[in-house]
Amino acid sequence: MIIDTHCHLCDARLKDRQEEIIFSLSDCGIESIFEVGWGFDSSKDALTLAEKHSNVWAIIGTHPHDAKNYSDQAEDFYLQAAENKKVIAIGEIGLDYYYDLSDREVQKDVFARQICLADKAGLPVVLHIRDAYKDALDILSAHRDKLKHGVLMHCYSSSAEMVREFMKFDCYFAFGGAITFKNAKKDEVIKAVPEDRLLIETDCPYMTPVPFRGQTNEPKYVNLVVDKIAQIKNIDRKAVEERTYRNTLKLFFKYGK
Ligand code: NI
Repeated sequence: MIIDTHCHLCDARLKDRQEEIIFSLSDCGIESIFEVGWGFDSSKDALTLAEKHSNVWAIIGTHPHDAKNYSDQAEDFYLQAAENKKVIAIGEIGLDYYYDLSDREVQKDVFARQICLADKAGLPVVLHIRDAYKDALDILSAHRDKLKHGVLMHCYSSSAEMVREFMKFDCYFAFGGAITFKNAKKDEVIKAVPEDRLLIETDCPYMTPVPFRGQTNEPKYVNLVVDKIAQIKNIDRKAVEERTYRNTLKLFFKYGK
């Protein structure tokens, strides 16, 4: 069975098809999905969706793009909502210097605040880091004692050397459609990730895998990610499913949610 660890069904591109997608998950070999918020409103929507469906879990938080809109109100909501059994992590949080949609100092501050929030809530963090690996490592180092509930690098896009840096924080690494793109130098990176640290995701509606690149991504395409990892690691796809499934449970459900 498969868990798609990163979806945005509350995104405008998928919102109208949420029900249809969720009801067809088991036909696609998918046991459950994690719906990820990117700010106050989408995090509320993620929780609503998760409460409605037994195979949907919510990850709530403010994306670095949206850091400029982070507020005490959002923080209070996240902390309170974290007590709900359907909320399994704080994310996606981090730094994005590729788009720079929020001021970098604000991004860093909001990232640090949400690491502290996750620790208070006793939940893992799901990280979105793009073109900001050095600063991300600095912030993680400064908050090392607040990361004991687990760390996931979502849509990991840096080097194999950087895998070793992040392993110092006991990180897990999730891969999605990007590993199927041509000239994606992901083989070496995936080989550098220990098998007990590997997770899968779609990040739908974004990052649609080949051969559907250009279309809207959906959870069912996580199967193409499984195929690609099986090919890179030269193992059976069933083994990839089982391994990533077990890793996902270990990271997100070890506290009994
Ligand atoms: Ni995302």
